[in-house]
Amino acid sequence: MTDQAFVTLATNDIYGKGALVLGVSLRNHKTSRQLVVLITPQVSQSMRTVLQKVFDEVMQVDVLDSKDSAHLTLMQRPELGVTLTKLHCWTLTQYSKCIFMDADTLVLSNIDELFERKELSAAPDPGWPDCFNSGVFVFSPSNETYEKLIKFCTEKGSFDGGDQGILNSFFSNWATADISKHLPFIYNLSSIAIYSYLPAFKQYGANAKVVHFLGKVKPWNYSYDSKTKTVQGDFQESSTLHPNYLNMWWEIFSTSVIPLLTEQGVIKPSETGCKALSGLVYTLAFSCGFCTEDEISEGVMHINLTPPPPPPPPITSEERKQKWEQGQADYMGEDSFDNIQKKLDSFLK
Ligand code: UDP
Ligand code: GLC
Ligand code: MN
Repeated sequence: MTDQAFVTLATNDIYGKGALVLGVSLRNHKTSRQLVVLITPQVSQSMRTVLQKVFDEVMQVDVLDSKDSAHLTLMQRPELGVTLTKLHCWTLTQYSKCIFMDADTLVLSNIDELFERKELSAAPDPGWPDCFNSGVFVFSPSNETYEKLIKFCTEKGSFDGGDQGILNSFFSNWATADISKHLPFIYNLSSIAIYSYLPAFKQYGANAKVVHFLGKVKPWNYSYDSKTKTVQGDFQESSTLHPNYLNMWWEIFSTSVIPLLTEQGVIKPSETGCKALSGLVYTLAFSCGFCTEDEISEGVMHINLTPPPPPPPPITSEERKQKWEQGQADYMGEDSFDNIQKKLDSFLK
């Protein structure tokens, strides 16, 4: 089947890792369709090389960004403005029908039957079930629809700042018009829903075909012990992600994706903190602050996958003055004795 495809999106290397796990999971379940990943210029060359090993097509598109801070703050997810980039999927007119899947989804069985559905089919959003969740949807590429969507964005904006707001306003009769466009929830099981209706999860969860790690915390934010094949963390309190699904994600990531990423130099053993080399635990956290004394002596290696956070924006001289007046001088940096002395010297000269 060359005229139908699964499509995902990665605007950076972090989501690239999610896309790779999704791609491998589709291949593991023997999809007969093409795999396409949309990327933006920010994705590194080595990540592109790895994506090419898993996807049939790696296509670069421009970033579309809502910059809609008001709506995105309401969702507490300022990073989701770029999800409008997803709309580019309608331009894949070399395919007659596609399934879009977020890079934070994982396929648990073959889902090729979704291609029997029509545009726009999707599963309900767990937060507001009269809206569909745009993490998994069936669509028909068309330049005309793409143009209409972009026009719609510019004229009306998105009520959530991201693609899901736009798509729900655009395909506005989804909730009521045609029940065949309502995908069963098992095609987009958000981990959030598991805890909000646990008995239903116990009853139906075994039928799940796609898990969606929706929310701020993603599988790649966890650490994993490849010896015991378990994700580390306190799942009672902090997490809405189900440990079994996290373990499945990490199993694929550690066995099929990490070797590809290491080969291309996308990831390197962390140079900070822990120097031991036996490669038992992987973590995507930036610093090796996760290392305990015991782990180091056991020879556990942490892998540093997330780039260092950007430096804080420089403060204006007005802000600096204010801080100084409030007694918050930056003694170690800008306001250090050395700097003050330099300033005095330059005045005296
Ligand atoms: N995405 C991306 N870069 C970003 C944020 C999002 O490529 O910085 C893509 C990615 O495919 C992701 C999708 O947009 O899965 C939607 O974002 P996310 O899954 O984080 O939203 P959620 O499902 O948690 O609301
Ligand atoms: C949602 C969806 C995601 C979408 C985002 C922004 O929560 O899960 O796919 O990109 O909202 O609209
Ligand atoms: Mn998602």
